[in-house]
Order: sequence, then structure tokens, then C-alpha cells
Amino acid sequence: MEQPLILGIESSCDETAAAVIRGRTLLSDEIISSASVQAKFGGVVPEIASRAHSDAVDEVVLRALQAANVKKEELNAVAVTYGAGLLGALLVGLSFAKGLAYGLNIPLIGVDHIRGHLAASYLEDETLAPPFMTLLASGGHTAILFTKTATEFEVLGGTLDDAAGEAFDKVARVLSLPYPGGPHVEKLAREGKNVIPMPKMLKGLGGYDFSYSGLKTHIINYVHTKEQKGESWSRADVAASFQSAALDILVEKTVEAALQYHVGTVTAGGGVVANGYLREKLSQACERAHLKLVLPEKKHCTDNAAMIAAEGLIQYRAGNFSPLSLNARASIPLR
Ligand code: KG4
Ligand code: ZN
Repeated sequence: MEQPLILGIESSCDETAAAVIRGRTLLSDEIISSASVQAKFGGVVPEIASRAHSDAVDEVVLRALQAANVKKEELNAVAVTYGAGLLGALLVGLSFAKGLAYGLNIPLIGVDHIRGHLAASYLEDETLAPPFMTLLASGGHTAILFTKTATEFEVLGGTLDDAAGEAFDKVARVLSLPYPGGPHVEKLAREGKNVIPMPKMLKGLGGYDFSYSGLKTHIINYVHTKEQKGESWSRADVAASFQSAALDILVEKTVEAALQYHVGTVTAGGGVVANGYLREKLSQACERAHLKLVLPEKKHCTDNAAMIAAEGLIQYRAGNFSPLSLNARASIPLR
């Protein structure tokens, strides 16, 4: 089957999402989010997420099929996130997908959520093909990957401690910004200037590894010292200075890797790639280095089901199907 019709389902965190693709063409892309409910608690409460998924999964899949103008009987496969994520949340999507695949007698494709983030770029550019260099920057992972084939990548380096998204979320808390922190830090940063000196240690590590712990500690100390001394300080300037330091390093390492490995194309994926500053800086740096850049749309950087369907297509073409006994996994190593 050249252009299979695949339903993707995602429920690993606080978004219940479903999407339909035909080949690489996205036909529908639906999402029901419980983020506003979770925001009241300053983070995702697993039990609330599971319940929200249970309430939403039926509706979101129905919407995706209707918007794609597709009957479920026409589907060739169901792709679903089986990890990493919150177990209870994952089980809702996974159980639903198993029921559907079994009932329709079509293959089930268990998708690694992170590989989903990486596959989002394929939806953006129909001609995209490996090899390319990939920046992965999500809430749990931040790494530079050398994508060799559709199913294989090599991890060249990455964060030694916090993921980029995690660093944004932690700094957001210091700045009393709501969950999820990333978009709020970005918004505040637009009102500020990159004028507060940040530790240089980020760049001194060599290779493609980097660390966010020094940066995070620096911000916490800066704010505490200012408050203890009763001095005024600008939240917006802290946001802007942190954002530059945290993201410039990613741009620099990604471009460096693409040049060193002689690949002409760069892609990116994960929630942090929705950040406008990162997108702009990466575009400028790739242009200067004569590299082609393929960035997924912002809504395909944060969690969504279109990317799960896109990774489902890769696995479908590779003949990788999952048994109905597939279990959910809280964590999956980056590989
Ligand atoms: O990829 P993602 O949606 O979920 C996974 O971790 O798989 O990433 C979520 C992370 C959160 O830490 C969130 O704060 C961050 O991505 N994020 C952003 C932005 N939008 C989401 N970070 C910086 N700027 C943004 N605009
Ligand atoms: Zn994600």
C-alpha cells in the first residue's frame, strides 16, 4: 500500500489527540486539551489527565474521522503512543486503539512519543528524506540527533541534566508564571532585553553535550539575591536573558553538527521548537550556513496526533506492527 490511511492517537500527557493521514498528507488533526484544568495545580495531575482522556478519546477520534471525511472501515492501520508518558494516560489511548484495530482487523502500530516528535517534520515537507541533522527539544529530552534513515538515528549529544522544556518550566516557576512555563516565558521575554549576564559554562563542555543546571541555579540565585537586598529587577529581562542563553546553545550545536557531518538539511521537533525566538535564530543560522531547514508548524511541535500518525506511516512502511498485548511504558530510552 503506497498511500495508507492511518489514524494516529496520542494521550501521553494532557492532550487527547487524533489525526488522519493518507500517505504524508494530513487529512485531519484534532485535539482536546486538559492543560487549563492542570494549570490550576501547577503541573499535570496524572489521575485528572487519565479521566480527561477517558472523557475525550471517543469524541476526538470521531472528530478526526469526520474532519478527514473518512469512515473507520477505510483505515489501513491505527498508530498510537505507547510511551513514554503517564501510564494511566497512555493506557486510555492505547486501549482505545487496540479495540479499534481488533474490531476493524487492521494493524496496530505502537509509537514511541519522541519518534513522533521527530516525524512531525515529514508532514511539513513532502520531499524531506534522511540523512539530516535533528534538534530534539521537548519537556523530557534535548539532544542533537544524526538521522541516518527513516528508522535510525544516532544521538550525538545532548543535555547532561535538565531538558530544555524542563528548564523553561523551572524558570517559569521562579518568575511566578503558570504551567506550562515555556510559552509564558517566551511571551514575557518579548517585553524584556537580554541584558543579564548568564554563565558561560554552557558552551565550555565540548562535543555536542551541554548543561542547563548552572543556568537554572544562576537565575534562582539572581532572583533571590535581588529580593534579599530589596533591589528592583525585571522579570522580563530575566526571561529574555534566560531564553537566549538556553536556546542559542541549541542553535549553535545543531548547525555545528550539520556542518561537521556534511548533511545539507536540518529538522527539529518537540515542544520547545514552538518557541518563536528559537525558530527565528535557527532559521537565520541555517541560512548563513547554507543549510535547508524544515521546521514543523508550531502546533505540530507541542503534543499532537498528526506526528504520531506520521511516525506510524514510517513504521507501516518498515512493516513494524505491534501485538495486541503491547503494554504502555512510562519511559523509553532515546534510540
Ligand atoms: O514536546 P512537548 O509538548 O511534550 C513532551 O515533553 O513530550 O514539550 C513540552 C515542553 C514543556 O516543557 C513546555 O514548557 C515547552 O515544551 N514549551 C516551550 C514552548 N512551548 C512549549 N518552551 C519554550 N517556548 C515555547 N513556546
Ligand atoms: Zn511531547
